[in-house]
Amino acid sequence: MAGTRRRIRLALLFGGRSTEHAISCVSAGGVLRALDPDVYDVVLVGIDPSGRWVVLPGADALASAGGELPSVTASWGTSVVLAPDPTASHLLPRDATEAIHGPLGDIDGDIDVVFPLLHGPFGEDGTVQGLLEMAGVPYVGSGVFASAAAMDKQHMKSMLRAAGLPVGPYAVLRAGQTLSEADQERLGLPVFVKPARGGSSIGISRVDAWADLDTAVKTARANDPKVLVESAITGREIECGVLGRLDGPGAQASVPAEITVTSSAGFYDFEAKYVSDQTRFDIPARLSPAALARVQQVAVAAFEALDCAGLARVDVFVTPEDQVVVNEVNTMPGFTPMSMFPRMWEASGITYPQLVDRLVRLALRDGAGLR
Ligand SMILES: Nc1ncnc2c1ncn2[C@@H]1O[C@H](COP(=O)(O)OP(=O)(O)O)[C@@H](O)[C@H]1O
Ligand SMILES: [Mg+2]
Repeated sequence: MAGTRRRIRLALLFGGRSTEHAISCVSAGGVLRALDPDVYDVVLVGIDPSGRWVVLPGADALASAGGELPSVTASWGTSVVLAPDPTASHLLPRDATEAIHGPLGDIDGDIDVVFPLLHGPFGEDGTVQGLLEMAGVPYVGSGVFASAAAMDKQHMKSMLRAAGLPVGPYAVLRAGQTLSEADQERLGLPVFVKPARGGSSIGISRVDAWADLDTAVKTARANDPKVLVESAITGREIECGVLGRLDGPGAQASVPAEITVTSSAGFYDFEAKYVSDQTRFDIPARLSPAALARVQQVAVAAFEALDCAGLARVDVFVTPEDQVVVNEVNTMPGFTPMSMFPRMWEASGITYPQLVDRLVRLALRDGAGLR
């Protein structure tokens, strides 16, 4: 046992209803291994693809995944709910006759802090954050507004632009809308067509001829009725981690990384992200001192413009003229030990366990509610 001091009861929330379910499970395994068991009493709460919350009695299901990508299944353990009631902010068994079984026996369900390690809709978009606010439980990362704003590429761009930050030209196609000729002329070819609220490059195509636009819009709409069409930016793909400061307000930037894709698609698609070995990651990115400083400055400014908290990964393009253009802001970036965000911090002197610990401490410091 942990001596006299009570351990921090942390609920690790992972899986979820989005297409990034498996990535979230892998990230959860990494975070679990990084949490000091003398400090943290971890409750593993998996969300299955249909949205059911299940408490895992032990970490075996995450560890034994072998070569297969893990996935949460309802048979893992007790089904629970979190009541949106701050006077009873604990996990409740869905079946009142059942107990919540943790690795060390039955648990009462009280939670000090939640790590919502979820990507995409119903996780990274403010919805889970809203539930946690209602329940009055502190949680890692951005609040409701920043999560929702960063998830929607339309609003993310308009907020960054309003803050004077550089974003590329784009058009928004709501359900049923098509790209006008004026917009075709304004954007020029090639364009990128993407779901407004997607992730992991799912549903994204590069279009080199207007004849292919309809198919690309249909592909994007399979994921989201709202679609963005963006001018292709010519530049290097650079990512930068941003992390809240524990010793005061504000945030700091990591050393940036560069992604070089050589696969046939020609951009950082799902294959290049998770499957191909043709993708090169340079950490730190080899940038001129001026471009490096500009990337870090833009990353922190984007974090602040969206009112982010805790962590974010800001992805930019650096043009041949060393101009920085923001592509997107991820409020819950991939978090496996091999993911870019932890690796960029590792290269900046913060180890993976230190990173996880800092995020939880930031959440506990800031609490739930207006902050
Ligand atoms: N406007 C653009 N210009 C050039 N490349 C782009 C553009 N938009 C997207 N891409 C390419 O597609 C990838 C995925 O797009 P992104 O907007 O980051 O979507 P996701 O949220 O799914 O990661 C980028 O990493 C980049 O390789
Ligand atoms: Mg991206």
